Parts: sequence; structure tokens; C-alpha cells
Amino acid sequence: MKVAAIVGSIRKDSYNLQLAKHVQRRYADQVEVEILDLTPLPMYNQDIELDAPKEVLDFKAKVKEADAVLWITPEYNSSIPGVLGNAIDWLSRVDQVMIGKPSIIMGTSMGTLGSVKAQMHLRDILFAPGLNSPVLSANEVYVGAVHTKFDTEGNLTDESTIAFLDNVMANSQEWMKQYV
Ligand code: FNR
Repeated sequence: MKVAAIVGSIRKDSYNLQLAKHVQRRYADQVEVEILDLTPLPMYNQDIELDAPKEVLDFKAKVKEADAVLWITPEYNSSIPGVLGNAIDWLSRVDQVMIGKPSIIMGTSMGTLGSVKAQMHLRDILFAPGLNSPVLSANEVYVGAVHTKFDTEGNLTDESTIAFLDNVMANSQEWMKQYV
């Protein structure tokens, strides 16, 4: 099973990126996770969507070939970061590569709520007609106080979070089977 991970932070030391890398490493024998880089994406502009730059086409091709998308996002101003919204706008247009493709949502924050508002908004966005992506339910991952759960090398050290993610990933894989 191939999973494209889309991280809503392009910060070098992003905790959300660290969470994506944890998933990539820990479940490597079960799923092939590729973390996509949003940095090269230009701002979405309807004037160029039919003749989009190579960076956009490459990004969309990676999403298209994946069996599922794993979204891992911080919360910015009670919603999703602009960089994530921009990527979503590209994905929602022209060949609409998200339609029917399953999504799993996770996220972290340093506060206690673990990006819950951003994740709720993202879930809603994924139900828009241009995306129409089935989203895994009942396995919501809000990693709060994230700065206490990773070590300085970027390893997740919090045992209860590790165990919780094991359960969510097992459920995710079972759920994804119906779409591949
Ligand atoms: C934030 N942060 C934040 N946190 C939160 O819980 N609710 C919020 O609404 C916001 N808003 C917000 C806006 C902006 C512009 C920034 C830069 C930050 C804090 C944010 O979640 C925190 O810095 C995360 O660690 C960012 O994720 P990465 O980069 O570590 O993955």
C-alpha cells in the first residue's frame, strides 16, 4: 500500500514533519509512506491551472499514484496553514486527483488540543466536491504538548502516543483495503 504524506508545515524542524517521519519509519514493513514536499509549490492561480508548472504536476502525480493520503497538520489561527490550503487548491482542480482517494488525518501542536480545530476544518474541506475524499473516522489523532513527546533527535518517545498510533495505523490499513 502506497501512502502520500502531506505535512502542513514547511518548517525545517516541524513537529508535524517529525510525526510523519515516525509513521514512515515505524510502519515501513506495512505501508510505503512518501513525504511530499510542499515548498516548491507556487501559489495557486486559476490563470495557470491548465498549464501548471512542473512542480505542481509532479506533486499531483505523486498524490495520484498513492493509494491514500495521510494529512499531518499544525493549526494556524484556528484553521489549516496557508501552505496546506494552497496544496489542496491545486489538488482540487483540473484532474481532481483526490476524488475517491481515502484520507487519514493527524496533527500536533504544543498546546493541549493537538490541532483539533485545524483537523476539523481539514475534514470538512476534504468533503468539498473537488476533493470528495473519504476520511477515516473514529481514529482521530490529536498529539498535544508535542514538545514533550519528541526528543532532540526527532524521535517520538511518548509510549502512550506510540501505542495509540499503532492502533490507529492498524485500523487505517484495514479501512483502506476497501478503496484499493
Ligand atoms: C500557530 N500556532 C497555533 N497553535 C494552536 O494550537 N492554535 C493556533 O491557532 C495556532 N496558530 C498559529 C499561527 C501561526 C501563524 C503560527 C506560526 C503558529 C502554533 C503552532 O501550532 C506550532 O508552532 C506548531 O508547532 C507548528 O507546527 P510545526 O511547524 O512544528 O509542525
